Amino acid sequence: MKTKYFYMFIRFILLLLLTFSFSCNSTDTKKHKIGFSQCISKDDWRKAMDHEMEVEASLYEDIDLTIFQGNEDVELQKSQIEFMIDNEFDVIIVSPLRPEPLVSVIEKAYDKGIPVIIVDRKINSQKFTAFIGANNLDVGRNAANYIASLNEKPSRILEIRGSDNSSPVIERHLGFHEIIYNEPNITVEYRINDEDIEQRVPQILDSLHVKPINFVYAFNDDIAYRTWKIAKSKGVEESIKFIGVDGLNGANNGIQLVQNGILAATILYPTGGDEAIKIAMKILRKENVSKNNILNTTVIDYRNAEIMKNQYDKINKHQNEIEEQQEKITQQEETYSTQKNILKVLLGLLITSLLLAIYSVYSANSIKKKKRELEIQNKKITTQRNQIKKFAEEVKVSNDAKTNFFTGLSHEFKTPITLILSSIESLSEDNAIKDNKLLREVGLIYNNSKRLLRLINQLLDFRKIEDRKFILKASETNIYEFSTGIFKDFEREAQKRNIEFLINTNDENLKIYIDRNLMDKVYFNLLSNAFKFTPNNGSVHINIINEVDSNFVKINFKDSGIGIPKKDLDNVFQAFFQASNNNKVSSGIGLHLSKEFVEMHKGTIDVSSKHGTEFTLTLYKGNAHLSSDEIIYEPDLIDNSVLNFNADFEENEFVEVGVVRDEEHYSILIIEDNSDLIKYLRNKLIGEYDVHVSDGTDGIEKAYEIVPDIIICDINLPDKTGFEICEILKKDLRTSHIPTIMLTALNNKESYLKGLESGADLYLTKPFSFAVLQQSIKTMIYNREKLRYYFINNIHKINTDNSFGSIEQDFLSKINEIINENLDNSKFSVENLATALNISRVQLYRKTKAILGVSISDYIQNIRLEKAKTLLKETKLTISEIAYATGFSSPNYFSTSFKNKFDNSPKAYRAS
Ligand code: FRU
Repeated sequence: MKTKYFYMFIRFILLLLLTFSFSCNSTDTKKHKIGFSQCISKDDWRKAMDHEMEVEASLYEDIDLTIFQGNEDVELQKSQIEFMIDNEFDVIIVSPLRPEPLVSVIEKAYDKGIPVIIVDRKINSQKFTAFIGANNLDVGRNAANYIASLNEKPSRILEIRGSDNSSPVIERHLGFHEIIYNEPNITVEYRINDEDIEQRVPQILDSLHVKPINFVYAFNDDIAYRTWKIAKSKGVEESIKFIGVDGLNGANNGIQLVQNGILAATILYPTGGDEAIKIAMKILRKENVSKNNILNTTVIDYRNAEIMKNQYDKINKHQNEIEEQQEKITQQEETYSTQKNILKVLLGLLITSLLLAIYSVYSANSIKKKKRELEIQNKKITTQRNQIKKFAEEVKVSNDAKTNFFTGLSHEFKTPITLILSSIESLSEDNAIKDNKLLREVGLIYNNSKRLLRLINQLLDFRKIEDRKFILKASETNIYEFSTGIFKDFEREAQKRNIEFLINTNDENLKIYIDRNLMDKVYFNLLSNAFKFTPNNGSVHINIINEVDSNFVKINFKDSGIGIPKKDLDNVFQAFFQASNNNKVSSGIGLHLSKEFVEMHKGTIDVSSKHGTEFTLTLYKGNAHLSSDEIIYEPDLIDNSVLNFNADFEENEFVEVGVVRDEEHYSILIIEDNSDLIKYLRNKLIGEYDVHVSDGTDGIEKAYEIVPDIIICDINLPDKTGFEICEILKKDLRTSHIPTIMLTALNNKESYLKGLESGADLYLTKPFSFAVLQQSIKTMIYNREKLRYYFINNIHKINTDNSFGSIEQDFLSKINEIINENLDNSKFSVENLATALNISRVQLYRKTKAILGVSISDYIQNIRLEKAKTLLKETKLTISEIAYATGFSSPNYFSTSFKNKFDNSPKAYRAS
């Protein structure tokens, strides 16, 4: 919970910081992209143009100027303009090398809506936003007028043009000649291109005497200077006046050359760089701009060169200052931005720490609260613990009292039981009982009293073990002889149940130290268990192994019983534990006691289960493992002379002795695994009923085979539980009609309900009164008879359309349906019917006899006759037709049968 809040808090802080940083950045404006494609890169005039642009652009915060150098390559310029279009520049400035080649790309930009500014040189198109530059016609005119103004007669001129066919080249020439044309004394003697200077100028100068010249009109100052240098080399520079164009300030540029007397004049040709940016800004600000922006031009000669220079120097100075300022501003901006960022971080941290402080106060408070809650809880727990302790002590006291009560009671039981036993023993010794039946009853009392005594002793032993009151009294004992003594006690049961019961050893003379009394209980318990869970015809083996190379002897008890599920193996020695597959009633302390007793001998007991169960005792040889007070030197003899009544009236209660199927008597099947109870019930019921018995392993099979009139079934049985058996029988057509009595020690509501759910008709709990059982059997048989009577008297009502619901009614409907389908078939037999019902002939016979009280053949006959009766009354069929229609092989046989049944001939019946 806490972590959840913490993460929520962190998320909140991050969100806050993010919002904060965005809000700070929101003042940053988007910059306008201005691009400039410069046609020529190398000369000062162009550099001055670029510089002017940069200085001007730096004055605007929102301008991002990029200058692309064209290097006198029109293709390169084209691609630069394409690039600017593709990258969505806001304004494109171009100084085109020549008028034609760039027209298409400039028009493309213009058509796309990008403002285009043409600088200095013109193009052969009007698709541009603005032009900026001086009037080159004026430049030519100024030069010509200057020459004319000098009034040198005659004036002979060498004109040197630029070699590219740009608009300035053309216009400067045209303007110049426009003036000269009207000046008769002025002639252009030579006209050459600047690229021919090195070759042509020396020739011209060498022939001055033939064709003298006194003026050079050069396309720009650079060309004029280069020509001057050649003239100087020829020594004729003084005789010629050089006029250039551009009038740039700076070393070896126009103004200085004029000042130095090298040039007579230069015609000012401003670059327009700063103007171009200004116009671009106007466009970006959506202000109106003129399409043609013409810059002024003027003549600079020795008269105004100084002034011009000063002016330009001043401008330069200003520009430098601006640049410096600009740089400072940039620095300031950087510092500002850094500080702004630091401030942001600081603010962020401040907010974070503030929030953290709030959070920690909140946390401290909630911790305090939690602590308080915990303290209260702690107090509560302590109080509860004390209460529980008190309760526990009280429970212990009450438990002890209860246990003492039970222990006392158990002790109390011992005396009367012992007395009963000794009385019976004396009865037997005196041969007082002569009556066999009485002897059998007394035998039952004796065996069950012995069992009771053993159980009570176990209870007392458990208490003694709990209280650690047992003291080992070990004496040297021949273990094989000892084991054989106990073995004999079980031999009779083994014989009776045809169990292969064997004892083996590899050393008949082995003596070990055991407490005979305790070990007797261990043996008795293990063997009782083995016999309890081993079915008839199984095996129980005892194997005593002297492990010659070790200090141990192993005693192995192996049976072929139902085994113990793997998941239960670890728990079998726990007190009150009952394996999940054990349906028998047991105290659950026998194995627990056995383990305790074996461990008192410092031995171990292990269990494994695979095709039956195997217990192994591992006991020490010798007596080194025992303390001196655990050893007794006068060995007690175990009294084996127990009275055994079984020998006298032994009989196998599961073997059907003298049972002949008796049609006079009703039959009862008792499914019970307690041999004494079986004996008891059989003795009581045998006179009146035909009694059959099963130990539970074959109860279902016997019920199918016998189809008895009543079933008495126990619940805790070795294979399936009584509930399961009852459910199976009640769902099977062969046995579903049989009333079933559940006889069990499970005296609780759940078991009772379970019994009824499984279909049992009556649920009797042990100990039960035989009189009640007897009366119940009688009532059930009586009810069954009533039902039979109903069925047999309502044969005609039971038909396929009538659904009675119970298995029996369905069964009868099915029988009727089959019989009716075969009514006219005289060959239709009981066998045919049994096959159609998928049961055996005998089962069909017993089932119909049980629910109808008549044999199936009589039943079929009855249906035929009933039908015949109806046909006689309701149709006009002849008697023989009716005889065949109801399945009689001859009319005679039909008439006889009819008369037997209804005391009336068919003919007489029809007439009545
Ligand atoms: C420089 C230059 C200048 C001239 C201009 C004409 O490249 O030749 O000297 O005035 O270009 O476009």
